[in-house]
Amino acid sequence: EFRRVLFRSVQEVVPKHINCIYIRQAEPLGLGHAVLCALPVIQNEPFAVILADDLIEGEIAIMKQMVDVFARHQCSVLGVQNVPRSQTRQYGIVSASHVEANLEQVHGIVEKPRPEDAPSTLAVVGRYILTPRIFYHLAHVKPGAGGEIQLTDGIAALLHEEKLLAHRFEGTR
Ligand code: G1P
Repeated sequence: EFRRVLFRSVQEVVPKHINCIYIRQAEPLGLGHAVLCALPVIQNEPFAVILADDLIEGEIAIMKQMVDVFARHQCSVLGVQNVPRSQTRQYGIVSASHVEANLEQVHGIVEKPRPEDAPSTLAVVGRYILTPRIFYHLAHVKPGAGGEIQLTDGIAALLHEEKLLAHRFEGTR
């Protein structure tokens, strides 16, 4: 019985109506590079990035909350959460101004700043909706923190051209 329940819960991760297309990132060149590898299947569409090692549970799924923000504002959306200042070195950190409840407009983003350098304590936690223009920037950014092509650096470049919002999601990470 336990195994049957476990099996069903694993099946629910990818429901029957979902098709999967897999792309291999053959070299570990960074998250930005990994996203760029998906260009052939995404092409000119807005898309979501879900970092599977960030598990977030919400009464309304976090990505659903963010899709709703995208539907209203038609721009890129980052999932963010406040973290202790001592932990900024583990995250992309945004500087932002208040728009409405749970919604900020992003003005800057930096990858893994030291606590004393962090522009705020608002951290990106593994959920992104991005416009396809990000691919242009990912193809052009230089390796950043850790020598990797950082998604954060691509987003920083995108910010010069497009509005970007941060959604303070409701849920438990
Ligand atoms: C990645 C991103 C970072 C983000 C984090 C979320 O870092 O580079 O900007 O805040 O995921 O968990 P990683 O955890 O892969 O080092």
